[in-house]
Amino acid sequence: MDVELVGHALSTLPDDDDHPYRTGPWQPQTSEWRADDLTVIGELPADLDGVYLRNTENPVHPAIAGRYHPFDGDGMIHVVGFRDGKAFYRNRFVRTDGFLAEQETKEPLWAGLAEPPKKSLRDGWGARGGLKDSSSTDVVVHAGVALSTFYQCGDVYRLDPLTLDTLGKSAWTPSTWGVSAHPKSDEHTGELLFFNYGKEAPYLHYGVVDADNHLVHYVDVPLPGPRLPHDMAYTENYAILNDCPLFWEPELLEKGVHAARFHPELPLRIGVIPRRGTTEQVRWFEAESTYVLHFVNAYEEGDEIVLDGFFQDDPEPQDRGDGSYYQRMFRFLALDRMQSRLHRWRLNLRTGAVKEERLRDRVTEFGMINGRFGGRRNRYAYAATGVPSWFLFSGLVKHDLATGTDEHYAFGEGVYGSETAMAPRVGSTGEDDGYLVTLTTDMNENRSECLVFDAKRVADGPIARVRLPERVSSGTHATWAAGSSIPGWRTADTMGRALRMES
Ligand SMILES: [Fe+2]
Repeated sequence: MDVELVGHALSTLPDDDDHPYRTGPWQPQTSEWRADDLTVIGELPADLDGVYLRNTENPVHPAIAGRYHPFDGDGMIHVVGFRDGKAFYRNRFVRTDGFLAEQETKEPLWAGLAEPPKKSLRDGWGARGGLKDSSSTDVVVHAGVALSTFYQCGDVYRLDPLTLDTLGKSAWTPSTWGVSAHPKSDEHTGELLFFNYGKEAPYLHYGVVDADNHLVHYVDVPLPGPRLPHDMAYTENYAILNDCPLFWEPELLEKGVHAARFHPELPLRIGVIPRRGTTEQVRWFEAESTYVLHFVNAYEEGDEIVLDGFFQDDPEPQDRGDGSYYQRMFRFLALDRMQSRLHRWRLNLRTGAVKEERLRDRVTEFGMINGRFGGRRNRYAYAATGVPSWFLFSGLVKHDLATGTDEHYAFGEGVYGSETAMAPRVGSTGEDDGYLVTLTTDMNENRSECLVFDAKRVADGPIARVRLPERVSSGTHATWAAGSSIPGWRTADTMGRALRMES
């Protein structure tokens, strides 16, 4: 392994930190690494070709008012690249305006999610306002560039997908509103579909960026009031938005207090709009009340749109654990508390009817698919199981939606994974003809690995484990980008040359 420390962020976190989401598996990093020719246990297949990218909430300062929430951490992207049976690794902080400002002042400047916005020392970002746009939620690849985004809406930061150098912000980002996490990169059209939300009418917008990175569509999607949508879906012809009945309590909002409450008396509303449709063309479908954090996929079947996602039985968890501050505050992060289960909504475009069914009893979330099946009928979804009471992933599950069966792999006690991306094998034909890739935080061995599974045989465990230079913090959203989608990657005759070309 050829390793070099290439950067180091200033951190003012205390040595005796005891915050549960800044210690243990969530202990943040300050180092930025370049590591080539990584040590591999097992054998990396030569037809695993491309990059696994993962975002991470990685704080470097304490919370301004002492109430750190794990969504406040600064964005750090990890990349593990695979080519010719070898692997490389890089990690870099996203150079957001907020991160750079706080590196300069050497102290926190913005209040976090669990703190009063008035504590912020500077104007901030986010649907709530007064937050630091840390770009630490999601990462996708569009038009050959990695894009990091923030769950409360902010700038779209552009990063080189190999070196992770921050290339600036997407010029098309709507001013004031920004862009939410979970824009969708459609491999078939090269388009990026996105939404944003805020506290002013119309409360939601939907937009399309074309394959040449130009904003070509942007429309109002009026809602009854401020909402907290987190994800969207799409089919070949439609984009799918949502109005979940979990939102800031209006009376408290008038007093500047942002307290999310679930309203079981209100339905889940699912909005369907033609991909280049107008505001007037949005159709709303009403379904059983819940909050949906993530959708898996959607596709058209006859008169229906089939939409798969995770239904929460308890969106505002009543189970407060032992009642301690941390248990109460972070109960919204634990899959077992929210009781999220794979679910299917069928939206009939002809009759307006909705049929829904629970697909699994097992609690899972963070479902990923083979990206080539985005918007198309898919058979498989790869999801995470959670550690009880924690925002940590204990294993992965391959859901077979055709047979109703699952394959499960547990990382083992003290080992936590990330969102697992599906990497189609070069020249693949079938939907599960490829590999599953995830990063682990291994508290037993004090290290991190990138695990590679054969997607057809998940329960057999990883076929290769790639050692990273240091233990990295637990993190969540990830993506896969084929080498063929990255400029310069396939045309270079070696991986080393491809990397140099991009540097
Ligand atoms: Fe998310």
